[in-house]
Order: sequence, then structure tokens, then C-alpha cells
Amino acid sequence: MSPSAVEIQARTLAGYADASRLRQVHDRDWVLDRVTGSPETLVDLGSGIGQLLESALLRFPSLRLAVGLERSEHRIAEAAQRLAPYGERAVLHAADLTAPEQLPYRAQVITQTSVLHWLYPDEDRIFAWVAAHLAPGGRFLLTTYHPARDAHGLGGEDELVRDALSALGTPAEDVPALLAAHGVLPIATRTRTVDELLAVLAPHLRVAGHAERDAVVTVESAAQYEHFHAATFGDYYARVLPAERRADFYRAVGAAALRRQEERGHVSHMPVRLWELTAREEFVSETGNRPSRA
Ligand SMILES: C[S@@+](CC[C@H](N)C(=O)[O-])C[C@H]1O[C@@H](n2cnc3c(N)ncnc32)[C@H](O)[C@@H]1O
Repeated sequence: MSPSAVEIQARTLAGYADASRLRQVHDRDWVLDRVTGSPETLVDLGSGIGQLLESALLRFPSLRLAVGLERSEHRIAEAAQRLAPYGERAVLHAADLTAPEQLPYRAQVITQTSVLHWLYPDEDRIFAWVAAHLAPGGRFLLTTYHPARDAHGLGGEDELVRDALSALGTPAEDVPALLAAHGVLPIATRTRTVDELLAVLAPHLRVAGHAERDAVVTVESAAQYEHFHAATFGDYYARVLPAERRADFYRAVGAAALRRQEERGHVSHMPVRLWELTAREEFVSETGNRPSRA
């Protein structure tokens, strides 16, 4: 049986420009509004299809180099097309952010939006990398999502997945074990709490400020959410089912999302934090003293 359109979409993570309007796109200007001065180099970690890099190049004529690090070859190809008009000002590298290679330059601005949960439990590696790649006075602007977690560590998208799997015949109470059996960590488990993140980043970075917003997702149709799920999560969850049931799974996620919206007025609702971080040794306390290094 040949794969359905939505399965092909999930494999290639296609349609993200459209899908990300539901949630992730709001991070872009939120983050770039925090950039001060005239940065020359900006690095975006998990740069996806290059939307943040493009906005940055348009907003900051001072940028001589906008660099994207990204794992998905499909996304890099889409970003390369989007950024082609910017010539040598835009550079894309294939990279795994859990084992990032060193770059030969430092950046005034490093950004990372809607990515950190995918790096769990190795986030400390990217924090160390960032600390080593920030230019003096540079800022790391990071967004993190914080869905509420239940006793099984499920929350946010996991809840829609649980609804969808139970609609397809898996009892809701068996879903945590089904995910675990396929090595699928619930997204709400991947997403550490603010306090947990503070502990992980503390050896490398200091918090210079933060802001919060509520990400409220609403949809116009079940199909819209079905495509949002495929473009955002790919086959991360779908792989718990045999290939012939995956098209039904994506449809069931869309139906679950619409049902939730009818019941609650929205599909999902979660706090997002924007962190403004500096390298640890760059930090100057309110008294003007540099803390001694631990
Ligand atoms: C939800 S998308 C966010 C994309 C973009 N930053 C945005 O805000 O729209 C997550 C991105 O992180 C990338 N990603 C996930 N794990 C990664 C890893 N280990 N190394 C590099 N990129 C990764 C994915 O391929 C995807 O493009």
C-alpha cells in the first residue's frame, strides 16, 4: 500500500510554513524584538525552514552572517531556497544539536525557538556550546514550552495522541506503556520545568531576563490540525502503529483536536517562556562585580 499524502508530509516534515502559523511563528518576532544594537553575526539553532533567519536578515541590515544549524535535510533544503536571495549573508549547516560541532566564530545573538525539548536529556551540551560561541556581551534568546504533565509524564500534544489512540482502539490507560514500548518519550516529559532548566543551564549560562506568553492553539478544522501535527511532530508518535494504520492515526489526531476545541474553546493552551541568557563569565552582578568562577 502506498503512503497517504499526510504520511509523506510527516516523513518530510513538509508544510511547516503553513502549520507553524498555529503556534511556533509567534516566537519569531517575540525573540527578534529583544535583539539590541547592530549584530553582525546571528546563529539560529534548529533553524527549520529558515523563517527566523530571513526575518533577522530583513530586520538587521548590520547582519553580515546569519547561520542556521538544523538536523532535517528536508528543512535545510527548504531554508536554502528561502534564503537564496541573501547570498553569502546566510549559511546553513547540517548539525545534530545534541553533539554540536564547533564553529570558527562567535555570535552577538544566538536564538533557539521551539526546539529544546527535542534535545532532552542532553540540553546541557547545547548550553555549553552556546556559552563558548557567544561574543562578549552576546545574548542567547531561547523559547521553551511548558505543558502541564500528568502522573505518567504526559501533557500537551501527548494528550491529543492519547485521545487519538484510544479512538483507534488502545485503552487510554495503556497509552503510556505503548509509547514507552516504542521508545517514544512523552513531549511533556521532554519539556523540563523552568526550575529543572535553571539547574541544567546554571553551569554555563546566566539568566539576564525573561518573559512569558500563553500559546493558545485554535483550529478551523480537523484537517488543519492533522497537518499541523504531521508538519510539527512528523512520525514521532505515528510510529507506535503499524504503517497501514498511520493515515487513520493522523486523521484521529485532527478529530481529537477539533473535539477538544468544541469542549474547551481551544485545542491546547500552555505557557511559553522567552529566556534571555548570557555566558556565565560575562555576567556582571547588580553591584557591578563579576562573580568568581566556580
Ligand atoms: C518545532 S521545529 C522549530 C523550528 C524553528 N526553530 C521554529 O521556531 O519554527 C523544531 C526543529 O528542531 C529541529 N531539531 C530537532 N532536533 C534536532 C537536533 N538534535 N539537531 C538539530 N536540529 C534538531 C527539527 O528538525 C525542527 O526543524
